[in-house]
Amino acid sequence: MNSGKKFVLRGALRQAADGSGDKPHDLLIVDGKVARLAPGAIDAPSDATVEDAGGKRLFASFIDAHAHLREPGHEYKEDIASGLAAATRGGFGAVLPMANTNPVNDCAAVTRFMLEQAAKTHPHGPRLYPVGALSVGLAGKELAPMGELAAAGAVAISNDGRGVQNAELFRRAMEYAATWGLKIIDHCEDEKIASGWQMNESGASADAGLKGQPGVGEAVQVARDILLAEYLNLPVHLAHISSRQSVELIRWAKGRGIPVTAETCPHYVLLDDAGFPDYNTAFKVSPPLRTAADVRAVLEGVRDGVIDIMVTDHAPHAAHEKEVPFDEAPKGFIGLETALALTCPLFDPAKLEQIWSRKTAEIFGLRANGFAPGDPADFFLFDPALVWEVNRENIYSKSLNTPWLGQKLQGRVVAHWLNGFKLF
Ligand code: DOR
Repeated sequence: MNSGKKFVLRGALRQAADGSGDKPHDLLIVDGKVARLAPGAIDAPSDATVEDAGGKRLFASFIDAHAHLREPGHEYKEDIASGLAAATRGGFGAVLPMANTNPVNDCAAVTRFMLEQAAKTHPHGPRLYPVGALSVGLAGKELAPMGELAAAGAVAISNDGRGVQNAELFRRAMEYAATWGLKIIDHCEDEKIASGWQMNESGASADAGLKGQPGVGEAVQVARDILLAEYLNLPVHLAHISSRQSVELIRWAKGRGIPVTAETCPHYVLLDDAGFPDYNTAFKVSPPLRTAADVRAVLEGVRDGVIDIMVTDHAPHAAHEKEVPFDEAPKGFIGLETALALTCPLFDPAKLEQIWSRKTAEIFGLRANGFAPGDPADFFLFDPALVWEVNRENIYSKSLNTPWLGQKLQGRVVAHWLNGFKLF
C-alpha cells in the first residue's frame, strides 16, 4: 500500500500488552502512521487494503546506530544503495553511517552527498542519519567543523575506526558537540598499548603467534570517557564494547548517574578468541573477539541494561582484501542482514525491540515506532522458523565478509514497511 491510504495487516504475532503472551494482532495504518494495534480482529475500513501476516512476528523497524556504508570512496565494498538494501532486508528502517569514508565525512559537502545518495536510491527509506567525523580526516589532531556537520544533517560525531588518543581534544569534542546537540560515539582504543595488533591478547594469540591487544586497551579509554562525562556532566556513547572490564566500568558509571550509554554487536556476545580457526581472516575485527569470560560479561551487560543497545558495526570488505595473510587483512564483518537471526535466540522479542530500536531512538533523538497512534508505520514481519544460508544468493550487501558465511541461520525478515510503504 502507498501512504495516504488505509491498510490493515491481519494476524501478526506479537506479545500482548497485558502480558498474556503471544497473540495474533491486527494493525491499522492510516496515512503512513499507526492508527491502531490490537489483539484479535479489528474492523477494517471499507476503503482499506488488507494483507494477511500469515502468523509471522511483528516488530517495529530496527535502527542501526553503527554501520559503514563505504560511500564515498570505497564503493567496491558497499555503497549507500547496496547498504540500504541490506538494511531493508535485515529489518533496519534507519542507519547511522560512520565517517571513515574517502573523503572522510568531516564537512557538510560529504554529509549532504550521503543524504542525496540515500534519497535518490531509497526514496522510501531506510532513512540515513549520517555520523560526522569528530576530528578532521579522523586524524585526531583538530576538531571537525561540527556546527557545519549538524546543519548539513549529521546526528552524531565519531572518530570510529580509530581511538582519540588526546584526552584534551576529546574533552573539547564533548563540549563542542554538546553545543550543537550532537551525540559523541567513541571508538575506545589506546593505540599505544598494542599498536599493530591482530587479535585479542590471550593464550590464543600466544598460540597463534599473532600480536594481541588486551581488553584493557579498550577499557582505559572507557574509563577516561566516563571520568570526563562526570566532570563535564556531558553525555558520551561508547561504541562496540567488547571487554569485561569495560562492562564493569560502565556499570559503575551508571550507578553513579554519569550520563554514559553503550552499545555492543552480535559478534561480541556470540564469538570468542578461542574458536579462531586457522588464521581465518573472516574472524578479524576491531575491537577483536575476546575471551569467553568477556563474551559472558558483555552478554550479561546487555541482559541487565548496562549495555543499552546492539548495533551491527556492519563493516564490508571485498573478498580480495580478506583473502590475504592474517596480518594484512582489514578488520570487520558485515552484519545488517544477520543481526536479527543471530540475536533472536538470546533475547525475547520485547527486549530485541528495545535494544535494536526503542532505546537507540531515545539515545540519538530519532523517531521510532512504538505502535502508539500517530507513530510512523515502520515495521517488519519476521519468520522465526525460516532457515537460510548466508551466501551470495541471499545477501544484498556487496560484501560477504562474515564468520557466518556458508552457515545456516534460523529466522528471517520476510516483509518490511516504512511510513506504511511496503519496501518488499
Ligand atoms: O572492524 C572494524 N571495521 N572496526 C572498526 O572500528 C572499523 C571498521 C571498518 O571501517 O572496517
